[in-house]
Amino acid sequence: MNHIVLFGPPGCGKGTQAQMLVEHCSYQHVSTGELLRVEMSGDTELGLEAKKYIDKGELVPDQTVIGMICHYLKENGKVPGIIYDGFPRTITQAEALDEMLASRNENIGGLFSLEVPHEELIKRLTLRGISSGRIDDSDIATIENRISVYEEKTQPLIDYYTRQGKYYGILGTGTIEEIAERLINA
Ligand code: AP5
Ligand code: MG
Repeated sequence: MNHIVLFGPPGCGKGTQAQMLVEHCSYQHVSTGELLRVEMSGDTELGLEAKKYIDKGELVPDQTVIGMICHYLKENGKVPGIIYDGFPRTITQAEALDEMLASRNENIGGLFSLEVPHEELIKRLTLRGISSGRIDDSDIATIENRISVYEEKTQPLIDYYTRQGKYYGILGTGTIEEIAERLINA
C-alpha cells in the first residue's frame, strides 16, 4: 500500500489537492483536521477536548491524533494508498507513523510540501473564514497563530523527511489544476 503525505502551512491547499489526487489515483484521503471537526460537531468527549486547542489555533495533543490515525489504519487495511493531510505535524507524530507503518512492512513514499507565501495564506484563510464557519478561520490573530505554530512545531519535519530522501517541495500557487499537475508529475 502506498502512503503519501500532503504537507504545508494552514491554507496551503492540502485539503483541496487531496481531493484532486483522490480523483486521479483512487487513494483514500485522511485529514486529522476533518476527523477532529466531525468529533467536535458530534460534541463527543474527544471533540470537546480538541475544541479547546483548535479554537485557539494550537495543536491537539500528539497522543490524541496518533490514536485516531492508528484506528484509521486498522479500519483501512486494504486500500491502494492513503493520502495524509495535516498529519504528521510534529516529530513525535512522524516517528509514530513510521513505527505504525513499519509494523505492517510499509513506509511513507514521500512528503509533498505545498509552498505558498505568507500573504497568500492569510488571503485564502480570511476569505474562507467568511463562509466556512470554522472558528479557527474567523479572526486574523488565530490564523497568524496557526501559521506560527506550523513554523515552530511542524516545519522541522522537512529536515526529518529530507534525511530520509522523501521530501518534495511543490510550488503551491497558481490554479488548483496547475498545482495538481505538479503534484501528479512529482
Ligand atoms: P486542519 O484542518 O489540518 O487545518 P490547517 O492545517 O490549518 O489547514 P487548512 O485546512 O486550513 O488548509 P489546507 O492546507 O487544507 O488548505 P485548503 O485546501 O483548505 O487542522 C485544523 C486544526 O486541527 C489544527 O489547527 C489543530 O488544532 C488540529 N489538528 C489537525 N491535525 C492535527 C495534528 N496532526 N496534530 C495536532 N493537531 C491537529 O485551502 C484553503 C483555502 O484556500 C480554501 O478556501 C481553498 O478553496 C483555497 N484554495 C486552495 N487552493 C487554492 C489556489 N490554488 N488558489 C486560490 N485559493 C485556493
Ligand atoms: Mg485542510
